Amino acid sequence: MKILGIETSCDETAVALVENGSHVSKNVIYSQIDIHSQTGGVVPEVAAREHILKMVPALSEVDFDDVDAIAVTEGPGLISSLLTGTVTASTIALVLGKPLIPVNHIHGHIYANWLSRDIDDFEFPIVILTVSGGHNELVLMRGHLDFEIIGETLDDAAGEAFDKVARLIGLGYPGGPAISKAAENGDPNKYDLPRAWLSKESLDFSFSGLKTAVSRLPISDTANVAASFQEAVCDVLSEKLKRAAEKYGAEEVHLAGGVSANKRLREMVKQRISLPVKWPEKIEYCTDNAAMIAAAGYFRFKKDPSAYAAWNNIQAKNRFT
Ligand code: KG4
Ligand code: ZN
Repeated sequence: MKILGIETSCDETAVALVENGSHVSKNVIYSQIDIHSQTGGVVPEVAAREHILKMVPALSEVDFDDVDAIAVTEGPGLISSLLTGTVTASTIALVLGKPLIPVNHIHGHIYANWLSRDIDDFEFPIVILTVSGGHNELVLMRGHLDFEIIGETLDDAAGEAFDKVARLIGLGYPGGPAISKAAENGDPNKYDLPRAWLSKESLDFSFSGLKTAVSRLPISDTANVAASFQEAVCDVLSEKLKRAAEKYGAEEVHLAGGVSANKRLREMVKQRISLPVKWPEKIEYCTDNAAMIAAAGYFRFKKDPSAYAAWNNIQAKNRFT
């Protein structure tokens, strides 16, 4: 089964073709990074206009001939950005007479781990740390589409903290890759930054105190500040993932979302957790893309094929309930 995926929840206009939830035959991503780096972050109105301009060019790279269904992000995300994707997907579903599958963006990030892999080579329960600019969760997955949020951030997402700290110390947008690069030349133990463990049992996160602590450091010491900050974030993320895996008897653990591209995080998780660890096969599956949306759409469709016949069975949502 071949699914056309569409993703416009934030600042990437993306379309993809994915067969049977795994084989990616096309993955088109029009990034708005150059535009948003001028303002140091995403301006929603600017992002929305750019999606409108880039959607048709992105689609023109895709062969519609043997598309069996369309999957699209319906939320969470910026509502004005999401609308371009949902309206486009509805239109294609109507014209082609094919099913329309709404997908939760975070479920998409989770299913990025199935891309370019054998979809049967997974063992549940899986505990997933899914972290990006907009969200930061620990998810218990007992089976396909069976998700329970077992931990979340009380304030900033880790990616958001990377972006804010990068701006503070004069590095570019997005902050994650910039901090990670600067950290290569720094000492991660130079500054002892706070780790918010919260209560002993807690699987929740908090990064706002860390951000404030960084603002009190000599910020011109860029490499050492970047390395110490990255160390503190990855320490908390990997330790809470470990605790969650133990508590829920996970068979494997996964990393997903933009921050899962971070090398230090991957390294720490591997060092601390003796279970099989997966992160997306390619860097472009970590950050926002439409292949992951098509993969999640495939598993939704397979579970209940009759639920997605209507072209108008969709509503863009900035929060997902
Ligand atoms: O998943 P994504 O593309 O968008 C959201 O759904 O938010 O994630 C983008 C986030 C940004 O905050 C970016 O700074 C972060 O992921 N990121 C990284 C790295 N690459 C991207 N954070 C840490 N290290 C990286 N290598
Ligand atoms: Zn995302």
